[in-house]
Amino acid sequence: MPTYIADHRPGPIGIFDSGYGGLTILEKIRHLLPQYDYIYLGDNARAPYGTRSFEVVYEFTRQAVLKLFSMGCRLVILACNTASAKALRSIQQLDLPLVAPDRRVLGIIRPTAEAVGNITRTSHVGVLATVGTIQSCSYTLEIKKLFPHIQVVGEACPMWVPLVENREYDNPGADYFIEKYIKALMAQDARIDTAILACTHYPLLLDKIRRYLPAGVTPLIQGDIVAESLKDYLARHPEMEQRCQRGGECTFYTTESPEKFAVLASIFLQKKVTVTRLTLD
Ligand code: DGL
Repeated sequence: MPTYIADHRPGPIGIFDSGYGGLTILEKIRHLLPQYDYIYLGDNARAPYGTRSFEVVYEFTRQAVLKLFSMGCRLVILACNTASAKALRSIQQLDLPLVAPDRRVLGIIRPTAEAVGNITRTSHVGVLATVGTIQSCSYTLEIKKLFPHIQVVGEACPMWVPLVENREYDNPGADYFIEKYIKALMAQDARIDTAILACTHYPLLLDKIRRYLPAGVTPLIQGDIVAESLKDYLARHPEMEQRCQRGGECTFYTTESPEKFAVLASIFLQKKVTVTRLTLD
């Protein structure tokens, strides 16, 4: 396994997701922090991660983080709830001290949990996420740590990521699964006033999610929250901020077909991107 000795030269910020979902986070981060360089890596060849075991998500995410380190990243954001839920802690506690003690990997569950406490009025919160994120109970644990009075229920939405990855989300068939999981969530607790879209793919389903969420329930999207939290992190950690390369560029990598990625990425980002394929092992 490679090790990365302390190196104070700046590098791009790495943004990782199992597939396209992290683009919804990247877009908001670049909007708020346009001055830095970024590398986006989507492990599309092995997505979705949401139904995979802890061991597999950890191994795949670890490989992606090491790849981003080898490409010069000093700071990597896991722009994927499933990877944040299943791999972040092990990477931070087991891998970083051994392979790259001065580099950092951040997740997106903690900042979302911090934000929800200021948003809910009923103190009843719903979480819509992949099977893996729901089974990990990460949202319930993080929210309860910060706001013990908030009631949290979760509903796994295993069909939603495939709808996005296969560009089926605008078709009428998608409505069935969107309504189904929202109804199941609300059946658990009718007092929910905030539904966290706790998967970075879900903003693409937002129009339809809004259609089926009861009036008075706000969908909470993570992009702006994560971007603000990164800005705050860099302000509190000037030693890391100085190691974030400035230039305003973003390069895109996928483990699947670059042509396919470019088509979907242009829908997510509403502009054309150039994509390169790489392999993870
Ligand atoms: N976008 C990822 C998330 O935020 C998961 C998608 C997948 O299942 O791979 O959870």
